[in-house]
Amino acid sequence: MRFNVNDLLSKKKQAQKITMLTAYDYPFAHIVDEAGIDIILVGDSLSMVVQGNDTTLPVTMEEIIYHTKIVVKSTKRAMIVADMPFMSYQVSVEEAVRNAGRIIKETGAHAVKLEGGREILSQVKALTEAEIPVIGHLGLTPQAVLRMGGYRLQGKTEEQARRIKEDALRLQDKGAVAIVLEVIPSELAREITESLEIPTIGIGAGPYCDGQVLVIHDLLGLFEKFTPKFVKKYANLKDEIMKAVKQYKEEVEKGIFPDKEHSF
Ligand code: KIV
Ligand code: NA
Repeated sequence: MRFNVNDLLSKKKQAQKITMLTAYDYPFAHIVDEAGIDIILVGDSLSMVVQGNDTTLPVTMEEIIYHTKIVVKSTKRAMIVADMPFMSYQVSVEEAVRNAGRIIKETGAHAVKLEGGREILSQVKALTEAEIPVIGHLGLTPQAVLRMGGYRLQGKTEEQARRIKEDALRLQDKGAVAIVLEVIPSELAREITESLEIPTIGIGAGPYCDGQVLVIHDLLGLFEKFTPKFVKKYANLKDEIMKAVKQYKEEVEKGIFPDKEHSF
């Protein structure tokens, strides 16, 4: 049985932490699933860590669908959540429902994630009424990078903090099943977490959230353009891969590979 929306709520009730990581393809999704991570996010971070873009804005519906299909196929246990791409839900409620419907129907994903608060409440309500589970995303919302003028801490002023708290309650009220809180002060995340019945999943939001999420390329040391303060590198795979590739190159050039053992 896969982790599902009921498990989200019961983990929060039992004060058990929810684990979430991104994956975009078979090798990573397979490992993350086998490791027992509860939720796999096919994030629009795809744009940055797989496609090499500077923001998440260029990712398309077709690209999210392509990668989400692969991730669903490659896993057995995790709940699979797909990010709705920039401009796939902002224009109208109708477009949001049609696009979320495509993602669920064509990929087999179990929920979609949308960025924003009061601006997208009618979308969250309509998706929920269409039986599509919605995860919210507040605080640093990367699709708003142009308005925010960069990726920085959100919810610093009292007014900003109040707005995020209100948005969290409103998203819950419209049917969101969980909310990702990105790069906000730990104390604000704690207050929000305590005020909600649905779980919060933090990234750069401190230890008091009901769960945590990271981008897998960050955690593995595979994304080197920049490393935010909240990222902990649990491995340095870039160095490992570099070592292997250089050794292969050297062995081919020197005629060491292939040897007898690897030849017919
Ligand atoms: O796209 C993504 O990877 C995300 C997580 C960082 C929450 O939205
Ligand atoms: Na995202």
